Amino acid sequence: MGSTIIVNDLRKHYGQVHAVDGVSFSVEEGEFFGILGPNGAGKTTTLEIVEGLRQADSGTVEVLGERPWPRNHKLLTRIGVQLQATSFFERLTAREQIRTFASLYGTAPKKADEMLATVGLEDKADTPAEKLSGGQAQRLSIACALVHDPDIVFLDEPSAALDPQARRNLWDLLRRLNEGGRTVVLTTHYMDEAESLCDRVAIMDQGRILESGPPAALVRGLDAVTRISLETGTISVAKAAELASPDDVIDDDGVSLTIATRTPAVVLTALAERRLLTGLQVRGATLEDVFLNLTGREYRA
Ligand SMILES: Nc1ncnc2c1ncn2[C@@H]1O[C@H](COP(=O)(O)OP(=O)(O)OP(=O)(O)O)[C@@H](O)[C@H]1O
Ligand SMILES: [Mg+2]
Repeated sequence: MGSTIIVNDLRKHYGQVHAVDGVSFSVEEGEFFGILGPNGAGKTTTLEIVEGLRQADSGTVEVLGERPWPRNHKLLTRIGVQLQATSFFERLTAREQIRTFASLYGTAPKKADEMLATVGLEDKADTPAEKLSGGQAQRLSIACALVHDPDIVFLDEPSAALDPQARRNLWDLLRRLNEGGRTVVLTTHYMDEAESLCDRVAIMDQGRILESGPPAALVRGLDAVTRISLETGTISVAKAAELASPDDVIDDDGVSLTIATRTPAVVLTALAERRLLTGLQVRGATLEDVFLNLTGREYRA
């Protein structure tokens, strides 16, 4: 399988702000690729250049063997785009919106109605788009991006306004799409979303990609601690220090006593032998630790 998207040394500045500052990456056909980063990292600017909606200052982009800029009509039917800022045609209902999108692509109205059902908006079909809630509007814009069955789907923070249930449903939908052979590229603030969905993520900050790879590989590459927590009162700090390794850090916040350790097996064995497992929780490193390690800053989306 070849690369479907090839981005090379992309740059875009607005005045003094280097929104995209030398970004290179490629996405394979059928891959689920995520761009992860905090506000202002340059995710949307990067994505919009790749989608052909924005012109780069320099660098090259190839999508399905084509240059997206200047506006390339060959790509329009093959890519689906969901923008971060949702906008719809005025005064149309949800059904009319998606049918309008479908007709632009020569897709049958029936497919449009099915897609509306897929994102759980059947019962809102007759509601004007401006009367949908934030999450419902978000789902409608995702449905509109998918209605013509594109080869590549670009989604800019698709789960931003969704409640937890709708978010899970969206994850299932995106997984199904990807399993059906679609290439999916999304941006997200959510580390758990990237970990759960993406084959590969690029961690972006201040216009640059700091690292990319499969989430599990990025996490495993860290020399990070495992946090083992017990209910406060199960064991004293002094006692915990006895059974932990010398470098471990112990903290009791009145609710949980947490041992941050690089030798979790040793600590867990000692706790189990003493039957001190009340409220036990074990947390390994996550992509948040990867971000912290790369930037020296806590990840705050
Ligand atoms: N049209 C514009 N004019 C001026 N500055 C812009 C414009 N678009 C983006 N920027 C700036 O470029 C930087 C990157 O913005 P971008 O929207 O790409 O970030 P992002 O990672 O998508 O952030 P968010 O998570 O908030 O959506 C920011 O500092 C932003 O203020
Ligand atoms: Mg953005």
